Amino acid sequence: MKATALIIALLGAAEAVYIPSTGTTSLREEAAKKDILIGSGAINPAYLNDPQFAAVLALQFNSLSPENEGKWSFFNPAEGYYNWTSLDRLVNFAEDSNMVVKGHGLISSCCNPDYVLNITDPTALRAAMTAHFEAFMHRYNGKRVDRWDVVTEALKTQGGGLNANIFYNVLGSGYIADAFRIAQAAGPDAKLFINENLVESLPYKRQELYDLVSGLVADSVPIDGVALQMHITEVAPIPGVITDIVNSYKALGLEVTIAEMDVHTLNATLQTDIYGAVIEEALNAGITDISFWGFTDKHAYTWLPGAKPLMFTERYKPKGAFYATHTALTSFINTP
Ligand code: G3I
Repeated sequence: MKATALIIALLGAAEAVYIPSTGTTSLREEAAKKDILIGSGAINPAYLNDPQFAAVLALQFNSLSPENEGKWSFFNPAEGYYNWTSLDRLVNFAEDSNMVVKGHGLISSCCNPDYVLNITDPTALRAAMTAHFEAFMHRYNGKRVDRWDVVTEALKTQGGGLNANIFYNVLGSGYIADAFRIAQAAGPDAKLFINENLVESLPYKRQELYDLVSGLVADSVPIDGVALQMHITEVAPIPGVITDIVNSYKALGLEVTIAEMDVHTLNATLQTDIYGAVIEEALNAGITDISFWGFTDKHAYTWLPGAKPLMFTERYKPKGAFYATHTALTSFINTP
């Protein structure tokens, strides 16, 4: 396929959409051969208004997760009031495109509405969590959403204790176990993850997360795995670290995934190399669920001014990061 533009018919739509050709197979095609989920997170359903965005998403990826729309205030801003418009749109898109949805945002330090922030009574907060989790999980259980980030960013960014969010302030450190138990009751068949950042780069924080998670397992808390965000700025994880992380949690009976990878740097070659090295090591370590925090620099969330952290340009042209990921997937030998 040498053409500079590829015409694809949008699923369910009559019009054709022009997107730049990658000149090769899609990521999801290669991933499917090896039973791997390859996904894009950070999907704001409004982006689907852009036919190119929707086309590349459905063509390249077999999973997706919302950016902020699954966080508390986005769909449940007042007690007993739910607005499902955005999330329904995302899940319907996934249904039409045969994609898995990851439920990102059940407990997050961001975006908690006043009615939650004003609760001071532990019983009332647990009741609010139960109502919120049940509403979200019951609506989408069995409809493409089979895994959830139950708690995101429990630990302080640089490590050194738990984030003092509303849940910690009212319930203490036990809020994490509470959240997993409530989630399991609301979605007994779903996979439940703790989602954390920077553990691949900060040894102290890595140990801290391990201590936290192994404590949950020892207390029979229903947790299925650890979702590594893998936001990388300039420096790749030291080779072997991802493998060590996977093995340490495997020994506890848990799965490790990559949930939000992106690479923030102004150096395109370095970015390509990091994408390739991380995906190669992750696959060899046994990770079967990999997501990026978006796929087009048109909608990138970055803290490094000028950085373009994703694998397609603003105009949906594949970058080195795409080809490095594609090569890692095609070269990977899946030995069960
Ligand atoms: O919706 C409000 C809007 O009403 C208000 O006018 C505006 C003013 O700033 O803010 C809007 O909310 C913003 C929201 O994004 C939606 O745009 C928040 O301020 C802003 O903090 C929020 O940023 C998000 C961030 O998480 C905060 O949690 C980013 O979009 C989102 O990409 C980012 O995603 C996180 C993952 O959930 C967890 N892992 C790290 C990742 C990147 O930081």
